[in-house]
This record gives sequence, C-alpha cells and structure tokens, in this order.
Amino acid sequence: MSEESNEETKIIELEDIPGVGPETAKKLRDAGYSTIEAVAVASPSELANVGGITEGNAVKIIQAARKLANIGGFESGDKVFERRKSVKKITTGSKDLDELLGGGVETQSITEFFGEFGSGKTQICHQLAVNVQLPEDEGGLEGSVIIIDTENTFRPERIIQMAEAKGLDGNEVLKNIYVAQAYNSNHQMLLVDNAKELAEKLKKDGRPVRLIIVDSLMSHFRAEYVGRGTLADRQQKLNRHLHDLMKFGELYNAAIVVTNQVMARPDVLFGDPTKPVGGHIVAHTATFRVYLKKGKEDLRIARLIDSPHLPEGEAIFKVTERGIEDADEKDKKRRKK
Ligand code: GTP
Ligand code: MG
Repeated sequence: MSEESNEETKIIELEDIPGVGPETAKKLRDAGYSTIEAVAVASPSELANVGGITEGNAVKIIQAARKLANIGGFESGDKVFERRKSVKKITTGSKDLDELLGGGVETQSITEFFGEFGSGKTQICHQLAVNVQLPEDEGGLEGSVIIIDTENTFRPERIIQMAEAKGLDGNEVLKNIYVAQAYNSNHQMLLVDNAKELAEKLKKDGRPVRLIIVDSLMSHFRAEYVGRGTLADRQQKLNRHLHDLMKFGELYNAAIVVTNQVMARPDVLFGDPTKPVGGHIVAHTATFRVYLKKGKEDLRIARLIDSPHLPEGEAIFKVTERGIEDADEKDKKRRKK
C-alpha cells in the first residue's frame, strides 16, 4: 500500500522546474510559493499574477511542478486493482443518493459534500456515522467512526434519534463514535495523527474505523488565511491535510467524508458548483464532490460534480426526524421552492 512510498529527502528547488528562471523563482518565493508542492497546487491565475508570467506559462509550470512533486504519483495497475477490490460502500440512507454515488459513500476515497448553510451537510455526516455501524447487508460496515468537528455541530441527541429510527440502541451507537473538536487548522491536522493511534487501538479491539469525517474541512483554514500573501501557505497545508486523510482511508479501508460551506448563488440554480471552493486542491483530491442544494421544506437536491467514472446526475432526498431518507414521487414534484 501507499505506506511503502519512499519518502526521499532530495530537495528540489523551484529553479528545477522547467520554465522557472532565477527571477521568476524569486518572485514566487516572495509571494510565499517557496516549494514545488506549493507551486504544484497553485491556481494558474494566482501564479501568473505573482510570478509576472502569462497564464499559459503558469499552467505549464504547474504541470511540471506536479510531476516533480509526484502529486498524483504512479502506482502499478495491479496494486491499484488489489486495493480497489477491498473498497466498500456505506449507505447514505437514501437510495437515490446512494445511486448517484455509485452505491454509497466509498472507502479509500474522499467524498466532499458542499453547499450553503442548512443544505444538509452535517445531517448527512450524522447519518453516515450511524449507518457505518449497520451490518453489511443493511448498507453498513459494522465499523466505528471518527469525527473531527470544527464548528461544534456534533449532536449526540440527533444520533440517538437517527439510530432509533433504524432500530438500533442509541447509546450503543454513540459508543462507536469518537468526536474531537478542532480548535484551529493546526489542531485539525494533528487530529488526523491522533486518529491513527485511535484506529490502531480500535482495530485490535475488533471495532475497526471505517469512516472519518471532517465537518467542516475549510472553516478554520478560511478564517486563518485571509489575503493573497498567505494563500499559497494555506493551499500547501490543506493539501497535506487531505493527503493525510487519504492515507488514513487507504490504511484502514475507511471512507473519508469532508464538508465545505459555499454561498448559494440565487441567479443560477446550481450556481457555479464546479468552481473550486477550497481552492484547487480540494477539487483535485476529492474523489467524489457532491453539491447540495435546498429544495422545498425538507427536500434536498444533490448533484455529483466532475466524477471521473460516474455520470453526472441529480438525486433528491429528504431530511426528516428519522434522518436522511428517500423522497417519494409526490415529494419530487414539489422539489422546487
Ligand atoms: P452549515 O453547517 O451551516 O453550512 O449547514 P449544513 O449543510 O451542515 O446543514 P445541516 O446539515 O445542519 O442541516 C440543517 C437542516 O437539517 C435544518 O435546516 C433542518 O431542515 C434539518 N434538520 C436538522 N436537524 C433536524 C431534526 O432533528 N429534525 C428534522 N426534521 N430536521 C432536521
Ligand atoms: Mg454543518
């Protein structure tokens, strides 16, 4: 698995990127792009702006930096296949939404739910924390869950409600949910390390972690890194964070679910959901990006955005007392406000 990826400490300088001369390198460094990783995950317009180069050249430089940084590095097909065979899925509680995701939320992948406030991101997280504990034939993985809560929105009462709706004992379900509040972005990143220790212990106890949730991924990063000068720093940290999460998912065959709040744009039904909100990294690393939109009353609409192997489409579901549920045909007719 990815654990054996050799972490060589050969330092590659910005000047090693084809197309980057000493002058451009200096400008990039001054703007905070001090490593090839930072350049690799920059956006072309930002880089063009600070480096005094054309956007076309910026694109080429970014691509070259990605190769050097081995971002999205290579792995032989048989290894990928071996790993993919162990991929499992967790039901969201809605058949439509599961179908949109190709059968549910996948292990060893990052699924990002993004949308405006009240669109149901946190509700889905709560529901998945319950559902992952179900037996496999009911859409679960009989697993434990780790939640990194950055906004203090975890509600045990809601878990009990959802668990009981599934005929489970609420208190027993709560025992398999491990929650930590993240106080800032550094702490948030540190918690992934702590999660590994906990996952090791739970594995030994026969209660493997099959789901890790970060709700929300971006709030601390967004609050702490304001202004252009620090954007490169932020992207680099975020990139590492996502990479750590991905590793966790591969190591423990766990699903990774992150949320991301975005402003709704009233002018277009789906706004411009393809515009990466956490910058480009989130868009590149998340394997599934699901845009959530409020419908009428308890209805919610989900849309899958640029998935590499699934058709784009929409699913309609409900958030009720019982949790995430299927919408029926009557509901679907009243979907729009
Ligand atoms: P932000 O974190 O603010 O960005 O929003 P979010 O996308 O996480 O929204 P969240 O998942 O918290 O959704 C909130 C909505 O879920 C509420 O507006 C309600 O419609 C619904 N909801 C939350 N709790 C309950 C509940 O106990 N019963 C019912 N019926 N609905 C609930
Ligand atoms: Mg929320």
